[in-house]
Amino acid sequence: MTSTNPEASPLSRRVVLRGGLGAAGALLLAACTGRSGSAAAPSSTAADGATSTTGDATSATTAPTAPPAAAASTTAAAPTALVPTPTCDDGDEATPEQTEGPYFTPDSPLKANLAADVSTGTPLHLTGNVVRTDCTPVAGALVDFWHADDAGEYDNRGYRLRGHQFTNDAATYVLDTVVPGIYTGRTRHIHVKVQASGGEVLTTQLYFPGEPGNASDGIYREECEMTLATAADGSQVGTFTFVLA
Ligand SMILES: [Fe+2]
Repeated sequence: MTSTNPEASPLSRRVVLRGGLGAAGALLLAACTGRSGSAAAPSSTAADGATSTTGDATSATTAPTAPPAAAASTTAAAPTALVPTPTCDDGDEATPEQTEGPYFTPDSPLKANLAADVSTGTPLHLTGNVVRTDCTPVAGALVDFWHADDAGEYDNRGYRLRGHQFTNDAATYVLDTVVPGIYTGRTRHIHVKVQASGGEVLTTQLYFPGEPGNASDGIYREECEMTLATAADGSQVGTFTFVLA
């Protein structure tokens, strides 16, 4: 770990708004809103990687695995059977771009259960939807997560706690992982890239409400906070809606 913030970088323009979305179950979704940048590839990788010793930043502009054509075709087969549009309060603003940081690794495996990668850490069950700014759901969207383990360490050689998935026909993703640890210079966070089939890549981060380090983290955005609750077994249950521009 570096002693300085390895992920500090200029951010895209910001619009402060919060959106909400009803998801499967009774959980509310916290929508991270704002206008994303226009470039498909993250433009802040050079700055992000300035303190990295991993070398990942040099390849960080590589887009994640493209969504399969099959995913799109499943939603286009029956034009009369529309996918229900999730509730969306502030669908006119997209989730803001956030730096990908120096620890992104392209070509992550298809994997929604990252918790199986590790033997320690508080379980985190995160669900949500991917929608457009008009609140229409985006089925078959790529959602690529990566984050540190509970000790604040990234796996920069393999794909531990790294994996991508595609939203189902209801535009829902489901991630099982563990609560990431904190490392120097950053508050607790989860990295993610989201991409509609053939669309631009949204690179952003998710944050934990009530985290002490949020206030002092220059990258942190309140709009990117998950909605979190603690289950009876002590695990965390979170929701978040991604809004694509
Ligand atoms: Fe990070």
